[in-house]
Amino acid sequence: MRMVRYLASAVGVVMIVMLAGIAYAWRSQISPVDVPPASSFDAATIARGASLAAVGNCSVCHTKAGGEVFAGGLALPTPFGTIYATNITPDPETGIGRWSEQAFARAMREGVDREGRHLYPAFPYDHFTKVTDEDNRALYAYMMTRKPVRSETPPNELPFPINVRMVLAGWKLLFFKPGVYQPDSTKSAEWNRGAYLAEGLGHCGACHTPRNLMGAEKTDQLYAGGEAEGWNAYALNAASPAPVPWTVDSLTRYLSNGYEEQHGVARGPMAPVTANMGSAAPGDAKAIATYIASVMGEPSVERKARGEGVSKSPAAQSPGVLVQAAGSQSLPVTVDPKDPGAAIYAAACSSCHDAGRPVPYGGLPLRLSSATHGPTPMNPINVILYGLPAPEGERGPIMPGFAGTLTDRQVADLLAYMRKTFSDQPAWKDIEPLVADIRAGAKDTELHSLGSDGNAPANPTKRETSW
Ligand code: HEC
Ligand code: HEC
Ligand code: HEC
Repeated sequence: MRMVRYLASAVGVVMIVMLAGIAYAWRSQISPVDVPPASSFDAATIARGASLAAVGNCSVCHTKAGGEVFAGGLALPTPFGTIYATNITPDPETGIGRWSEQAFARAMREGVDREGRHLYPAFPYDHFTKVTDEDNRALYAYMMTRKPVRSETPPNELPFPINVRMVLAGWKLLFFKPGVYQPDSTKSAEWNRGAYLAEGLGHCGACHTPRNLMGAEKTDQLYAGGEAEGWNAYALNAASPAPVPWTVDSLTRYLSNGYEEQHGVARGPMAPVTANMGSAAPGDAKAIATYIASVMGEPSVERKARGEGVSKSPAAQSPGVLVQAAGSQSLPVTVDPKDPGAAIYAAACSSCHDAGRPVPYGGLPLRLSSATHGPTPMNPINVILYGLPAPEGERGPIMPGFAGTLTDRQVADLLAYMRKTFSDQPAWKDIEPLVADIRAGAKDTELHSLGSDGNAPANPTKRETSW
């Protein structure tokens, strides 16, 4: 009897919690509108929207391989299942053609669609919420003047209960802080512009901040380094692994060109970020660089000195540099012939990475690379296995992939050697199983880890400056 009463009251409590949750979770529908004619938007607003969309990387997620731009359908793998980016062209049936500006701005600010359903945070509205009304107006103008494309978005593949959108109300309650960016009056206008873009549209933290088990960014570890599509998105705070500390100038060059002389080329999911940034409004990359440099903080005297030492040391100090043309058997004197990694490096890598040819066409001396200094060997494994294929239609940095020539063991030996020789960091652990994992997982990765999209265009002047 007692048990029954207990159960009844427990059920009651659960009901009340559920009702409260539903009340909180419920969002009203915003009435559909007729597709606004392109003539209702002025050219300057559309152009501003184009630049903002570039910073927001909208096309990267909302376009599937070989598909029409913004027509959606790209599968975004998450630890919980697959979420498909939707069609955000102004098609009235399958896109957002019937969305009013108010509905669009609500999606950006609150992560709710026109019909009132909660959206998954794979759409980075936890960052886009910071976008101002004015900028949402420009983005809306830009989106509504794109070519409408009829294309149904495939249904998400998510397990119960995550497939119930109402559940997202709980997630939002715990992790989502809606609200426009609030400028910091103690900082410069440029810093504030950079913070607004990096924290908001640029959603840099979506990849560079680690996430908790619920998929939310850890607010106490901002920019401490995260993971994106099988790549390590390096720390951008004081823990930055870059051997030569980043500066406002070098960050500006990297973000707008996709490479930097002392840091190398942006690869993997960072490549489209920099490719897009190259077509954003002049000054935006520098503003973001100003903000990110302040997040990294002034490097210590020791770090600076170490950076100077590394960047000034002549190429001749690289152990592989004495290697002769490919095919020659003899090894440079500094290489330990008993170290299999050293022999592989000398034979397969040194001719490009120690030749002194500047990036992006030449390989970076690896003592300058964040890839040899990072906390995990994920990124160099990706690069070694799959190389840097030639970008389509333009000249670009090319590195052959070694997936077909090197075994997992050989890649692991090579990496152990590179870590020991080119960095002052502790040895990586368990490299070989990671190589095997990445090799096995690569074929499932539809995104930009592989293929020509994985390259930063080498020549920014050849880039499309408008969509
Ligand atoms: C990291 C990937 C990603 C980026 C970047 C991104 N989106 Fe999305 N977006 C998504 C996903 C995934 C969804 C679908 C979420 C869902 O089904 O709950 C979505 C949904 C939307 C929706 C709701 C559409 C609908 O049919 O419900 C709008 C509007 C939207 N995005 C606009 C944008 C704009 C504008 C940008 C650039 C400023 C952008 N997105 C950038 C992944 C992204
Ligand atoms: C989609 C995920 C993603 C987003 C969004 C993203 N990054 Fe990255 N970023 C990466 C990855 C992955 C790397 C490592 C790339 C490599 O190995 O070449 C990286 C590398 C970098 C580097 C080089 C760090 C080093 O030490 O070599 C900088 C700087 C950087 N990102 C800045 C930014 C900024 C600023 C933004 C926002 C405007 C941003 N990133 C947005 C994934 C991302
Ligand atoms: C044909 C020339 C060539 C060969 C051979 C080559 N690379 Fe590269 N590699 C490049 C170029 C070009 C880049 C892009 C510029 C850069 O970032 O270093 C690159 C980039 C890299 C990077 C990223 C560096 C960074 O942080 O930007 C790593 C790591 C790397 N290569 C490792 C290797 C290893 C290990 C081998 C041997 C197994 C090798 N490469 C062989 C040309 C080559």
